[in-house]
Amino acid sequence: MKLKNTLFAGIAAVAGASALLASNMAFAQKDWPTKSIQLVVPFAAGGPTDTIARLIAVPMGQSLGQTVVVENVPGAGGTIASTKVARAAPDGYTIYIHHMGMATANALYDKLPYDPMTSFEYIGQVADVPMVLLGKKDLPANNFKELEAYIKANGSKVTMANAGPGAVSQLCGLLFQSRLGVKLTNIPYKGTGPALTDLLGGQVDLLCDQTTQTIPYIKDGRVKAFGTTTMKRLPAIPNVPTLNEQGLKGFEVKVWHGVYAPKGVPQPVLDKINAALKKALNTPDVRKRLEDSNIDIVPMDKVSAKGLKSHLESEINVWGPVIRKSNIPD
Ligand code: MLT
Repeated sequence: MKLKNTLFAGIAAVAGASALLASNMAFAQKDWPTKSIQLVVPFAAGGPTDTIARLIAVPMGQSLGQTVVVENVPGAGGTIASTKVARAAPDGYTIYIHHMGMATANALYDKLPYDPMTSFEYIGQVADVPMVLLGKKDLPANNFKELEAYIKANGSKVTMANAGPGAVSQLCGLLFQSRLGVKLTNIPYKGTGPALTDLLGGQVDLLCDQTTQTIPYIKDGRVKAFGTTTMKRLPAIPNVPTLNEQGLKGFEVKVWHGVYAPKGVPQPVLDKINAALKKALNTPDVRKRLEDSNIDIVPMDKVSAKGLKSHLESEINVWGPVIRKSNIPD
């Protein structure tokens, strides 16, 4: 009898505690956010991912009523940041923006401490960004044909910057080298922000970078643009031919981005983050800044968990075999 009473008392206490926990959680979700939210960026400040993050952070913060603070966690092509976010508390106070590196990391790294398909919640896709093959201003070549000749004559003396394995600058650079049948000296940075600074300073010869912050430098001649990674020329830089039209048939890289959260964030909180993201992408200032860089904001139905998750899955299936076959070095 005593045992039975103790058992009943125990069950009642557990039931009471879980009811309290559930009501606390419901209260926390209803009130969320009550403090600032961290938006993790997997590359250095001043680069394309960082630029998009800072652009959406302000309006997202305004609609959520709390500041969205950008935190740069660069290194290992974004996998350090992905690991940090996968292990963060699922309370909605840590969110994450990453590009297609989320889909390529599995094939590039032997063992990841997270799984892109199961360790995260998916908030939505954001934007697709074209890339441009850039050269330093003093490079003797003035167009793609001259660049090809210069590279053939100088081989590994030519340096090419990238943001490490998993970075799209590396993928684009290696794709370019394999199409030309050359091996340049590849120099890794913590993001293309610092890589672009070195290109502008003339410390490195080439960089394949996104248009997010490169258009003004191309327009004012501070860097040379040898070709875009798109099938059509970009309206912002119509005089720059595509790589496709200059002989690298089918050379197309568009960099998609998505916003994530750690697995287990409650649905009502995810819904609030998604609504704030959608609103941010519809802000006239954000749209103009992105459109000026020829960045395509995705249709609003893709700014959704379903849109991002299915796109990620199909991209893993596209890039996995390509990377494994091409034997991309570390
Ligand atoms: C960055 O934000 O620095 C870039 O997206 C890095 C890259 O992937 O090339």
